[in-house]
Amino acid sequence: MNKVKSLNRKDLLGLKDLSVDEIKLVLRTARSMKEVASRPIPKVPTLLGKHIVTLFYEASTRTRTSFNMAAKILSANITNVAISSSSVIKGENLIDTIKNLEVMGMDALIMRHSMAGAPALAGKNCQASIINAGDGFNEHPTQALLDIFTMKEKKGSLKGKKIVIVGDISHSRVARSNIWGLTKLGAKVVVVGPPTMIPKDIESMKVKVSYDLDREIKDADFIYMLRIQKERQESGLYPSIEEYHKLYGLNAERMKKARKDSVVMHPGPINRGIEMTSDVADGPYNVILEQVTNGVAVRAALLFLLLGGKNSSGE
Ligand code: CP
Repeated sequence: MNKVKSLNRKDLLGLKDLSVDEIKLVLRTARSMKEVASRPIPKVPTLLGKHIVTLFYEASTRTRTSFNMAAKILSANITNVAISSSSVIKGENLIDTIKNLEVMGMDALIMRHSMAGAPALAGKNCQASIINAGDGFNEHPTQALLDIFTMKEKKGSLKGKKIVIVGDISHSRVARSNIWGLTKLGAKVVVVGPPTMIPKDIESMKVKVSYDLDREIKDADFIYMLRIQKERQESGLYPSIEEYHKLYGLNAERMKKARKDSVVMHPGPINRGIEMTSDVADGPYNVILEQVTNGVAVRAALLFLLLGGKNSSGE
């Protein structure tokens, strides 16, 4: 069977749009990028002369930094626009901002925005590649790709594997991108959380809904804990942090119910003591920092495929 050799698209907006072959191409290329990143001098000239800009309307540690590292590994130039000191503060709108960045010679824009659909709008209004680094409650595709890459490193094929995603599904772009990607690869996805945090139509995304974490972790291959967004507590989605942790948090006692080879994941940043206690966050079953490491390789693969055109093995 012929493997796809390039991402024939200008933008990466979400995993909803990516084919299984495209996802597999990114994962294969990320394996090569991980090898490059592990070299004593992790640098190749592949994207020499390309200009990449990051524009984050929301805060980030992992995503923005790993894109910076990925760009530097590939020898691209990268410029970070700080919203707080940019002309956005003077009221410049999104499209004007992007058009101005583009005429300075930008080849790709990595953007995060609180509005779902903002990267798609940007993509329609410029020639540069747009990479969605998280848009509202919609998608966070590069997070899901690094999560899937990490899962495959741990357990090989995801076909038939059980992945339990726990927390605020309604407001999670990480959950949505993971659900699109994992179900395309044949995984069995179960979402668990308070009924107020699970969208009514979520089963149309081919996932099972459960409210019983203890039951679901018994045979889970992966337990994926989402960040609880404390800012939503006042809206009454859950009664208290303590109650949330009791029902939907992980601690060493609850982990005794899970399979010995269960893997605990989290996209970061962790609210210690809420989604999980420190004995789990730092315990033997977690791969949370490995996810972060893999973010560099996966994002390098995406930059390469969108701006370079071929996969890194020269296929
Ligand atoms: N997981 C994630 O998107 O982390 P940052 O917000 O730090 O980028």
